[in-house]
Amino acid sequence: MRILVTGGAGFIGSNFITYMINKYPDYEIINLDALTYAGNLENLKHIQDHPKYLFIKGDIADPRIVDDVFQRSIDIVINFAAESHVDKSISDPGVFIRTNVMGTHVLLEAARKYRVGKFIHISTDEVYGTLGDTGLFTETTPLAPNSPYSASKAGSDLLVRSYHETYGLNINITRCSNNYGPYQFPEKLIPLMITNALQNKELPVYGDGLNVRDWIHVKDHCSAIETVMLKGKNGEIYNIGGRNERTNIEIVKTILIELGKPESLITYVEDRPGHDKRYGIDASKIIDQLGWIPEYNFFTGIKATINWYKNNMDWLQRIQTAAYQDYNNQTCVSS
Ligand code: NAD
Ligand code: DAU
Repeated sequence: MRILVTGGAGFIGSNFITYMINKYPDYEIINLDALTYAGNLENLKHIQDHPKYLFIKGDIADPRIVDDVFQRSIDIVINFAAESHVDKSISDPGVFIRTNVMGTHVLLEAARKYRVGKFIHISTDEVYGTLGDTGLFTETTPLAPNSPYSASKAGSDLLVRSYHETYGLNINITRCSNNYGPYQFPEKLIPLMITNALQNKELPVYGDGLNVRDWIHVKDHCSAIETVMLKGKNGEIYNIGGRNERTNIEIVKTILIELGKPESLITYVEDRPGHDKRYGIDASKIIDQLGWIPEYNFFTGIKATINWYKNNMDWLQRIQTAAYQDYNNQTCVSS
C-alpha cells in the first residue's frame, strides 16, 4: 500500500503521518509538501529516516511535479495540502484559490490519468457557512461559505465530487470541525493564545468572544480519516466532529487558568469580517455507518495540549525566529 499524503508537513498532515507510520509500519507514505510558512519538517523529525517514509518538496499546483510523483504507483491520495488560515484568506485570497482550487484540480487530473484507487479530500465544516443558536451541520446542509478560505475549500470539494460523477474516480470528502493538539502553527486560536499567555503578551479576542467552534483533538481527526480510508463508501462525504462546542472566550479563559495567567491579558479587538457565528457538526453518519469512535475528552485533551506547548517552547521559538525554515532547507530534497 503506497499512500500519497499532500501537505504532510503541516499540523494535521504531520500528525496523520506519525499516526499511520506507527500503526501500519508496512505502508509506504510519500509526503508531498511545498513547505510554505505553515510547513515544518521538524514536526516529522522522529520519522524522517523511517524506511517507509519519503518526503518530496513540491507544489500540488505544479502539474510537472505532481505527474512525477504519481508515476510512483500511488494507491491512495489523501489531500491535506491547503492554505488553511481564514484571516490570511481575507488579506490575500489569491493564493487560496491557486492552492486549494487549482492545486486540487492538478491532483485530480493526475489521479484520473494514473487510475489511483482512492482520493480522499480533507475538507472543512466551514464550507457550510454559519449556524444560528440551534441545529448542526449534516452532510446534506447546503454549501454557503463566507470567507475566501471556505469558498476555496467548497470549490475544491465540488471539483472532487465532479471527478467522481464524471470520470468515476473513487473519492471521499471529509468535513471536520476545528482541530486542536500538538504541532499546530501558532496563528490559530489555541496555539496563539497559549504562546501569547506563556510570553505574557496580550490575547486578541475578536468581537465579543462569543463565536462558537466545535473542537476535536487532532488524533481523533486522524482516526476518522483512517476509518474513511479503510471503510468509506465510494463517492460519500463524511462529517467529522467531537461534539465539543465552546465559545472562544471560554477557550481563552481555560488556557489562562491552566497556565496560571491573569485575565487582564485578554484584549478585545475588532471582529473578523464575515466572522461565522457558530459551527456544530453532526458526525452520526461516520459513527453509525463506519463505526468511528472519537476518544478524547475535551478537558483532558486541552490540558495535554497546553502542556505540550509548555514543554516544547523550543519548537515554538524556532517558529518565531524562523529557524525551522533553515531546518526545512537542510532536510528536503526536491522532486
Ligand atoms: P496547515 O496550514 O497547518 O498545513 C498545510 C500544509 O500544506 C503545510 O505543510 C503547507 O506547506 C502545505 N501546502 C500549502 N500549499 C501547498 C501547495 N501548493 N502544495 C503543497 N503543499 C502545500 O493546515 P492544517 O490545519 O494542517 O489543515 C490541513 C487540511 O485540513 C487543510 O486542507 C484544511 O483545510 C483542513 N482542515 C483543517 C482544520 C483545522 O482545524 N486546522 C479543520 C478541518 C479541515
Ligand atoms: O472549522 C474548521 C476550520 O477551523 C478549518 O477549516 C481552518 O483551517 C482552521 O483554521 C479553523 O478555522 P477558524 O477560523 O475557526 O480557526 P481560528 O483558529 O482562526 O479561529 C477560531 C476562532 O477564534 C474564530 O472564531 C476566530 C477567533 N479568533 C482567532 C484568532 C486567530 C480570535 O478571537 N482571535 C484570534 O487571534
